[in-house]
Amino acid sequence: MANEPQKGSPEWEQALQTLATQRARIMLLGARDVGKTTFAALLANRQLGHGIRVAVVDADVGQSEIGPPTTIGMGLLEVPVPTLHAVVPRAIYFVGSNTPRGRMLETVNGVRAMVARAVEAGAESVIIDTTGFVSGASARRLKCAKVEAIRPQFVVAIQRKDELEHILRPLQGRSCRLIRLPVPETVVTKSPEMRQQRRMMRFFRYFQDSRSHTFALSQIACEGTWFNTGTPLEWNEIHFLQETLRSRVFWAERSWEHLFIITDKVVDERALGIVEETFRVAHVTIAGVHRFVKLLLGLLNAEGDCLAIGILERIDFVNRTITVRTPLRDASQVAILRFGGLNVRPDGKEIGAVKPGEI
Ligand SMILES: Nc1ncnc2c1ncn2[C@@H]1O[C@H](COP(=O)(O)OP(=O)(O)O)[C@@H](O)[C@H]1O
Ligand SMILES: [Mg+2]
Repeated sequence: MANEPQKGSPEWEQALQTLATQRARIMLLGARDVGKTTFAALLANRQLGHGIRVAVVDADVGQSEIGPPTTIGMGLLEVPVPTLHAVVPRAIYFVGSNTPRGRMLETVNGVRAMVARAVEAGAESVIIDTTGFVSGASARRLKCAKVEAIRPQFVVAIQRKDELEHILRPLQGRSCRLIRLPVPETVVTKSPEMRQQRRMMRFFRYFQDSRSHTFALSQIACEGTWFNTGTPLEWNEIHFLQETLRSRVFWAERSWEHLFIITDKVVDERALGIVEETFRVAHVTIAGVHRFVKLLLGLLNAEGDCLAIGILERIDFVNRTITVRTPLRDASQVAILRFGGLNVRPDGKEIGAVKPGEI
């Protein structure tokens, strides 16, 4: 069939036959470029062919197929698809980074939320594709937490040698069924540059038809940042900060035992100590204003559902507004801006990264 993704080995065929009629949550595990996404598409098509209402949750935030990069996307199959990219997203969850590293809570919450949305949308079967992050203690914790969140009846593990065993063996105590598969010889590997190029294309397409929306900071909640979560300082306090830090201060606000400052320059440690003492706070976070330039944001409604993602275009510190470029046409339902950790130009180029806690 012209529309069918490439076939795998006899082991793959057998696994596909076993799973084709299972109404279940099926999670895929494997390192990069082992065929997870290809298997997910093949399986989804098979299940659809058996009349099963099947959803796919794409939890690979780097090489996203459903929804833009940095999100976990969910879609229901209406027709057979040549690749997962052809699945129309029904819901997305903004993780905010092209890797789960440093954003494990968001990744697990996102997978859980998208599986729940799939079930709400009537899916009888949910296939969950994941990132190739499988090596080391963090990866192991992440995959274990995903299993806890999803409670899959089947885990399909595709491995070259035994690189997944450290994750799989603890799962053997659970009632889920493990299906171990080899990597087809024909898989094509992608270099880090190719992966970035792919993300760039996906971002570019996503933001191709986007527009700007301006929100009043008093009317919008900000998440994932200190910004707009405390009480702005008085002008004389800002003046003191500028003198002490020898830097322009665009913004300063305090919350419980914490001071958050946006400056135009890196600030030396000694000055920081003076600020901590003067304001009697336990912590000071100073962020260069450049960290916010073209920062990715999730646009969420009051229920916390992600409506779209956007790029921060401008913060007007004087008039206290924030302008965001997004393909979302009607921004009237946007109640929350979730700050991400990647700076991306509308043409898709990634120009920086921000770790949680830095802003
Ligand atoms: N069974 C297969 N036969 C031939 N090519 C495959 C097969 N599975 C995957 N590929 C190719 O290998 C590459 C990596 O596969 P992919 O499914 O994207 O892996 P992963 O999701 O594990 O990173 C893709 O270009 C895909 O087309
Ligand atoms: Mg993949």
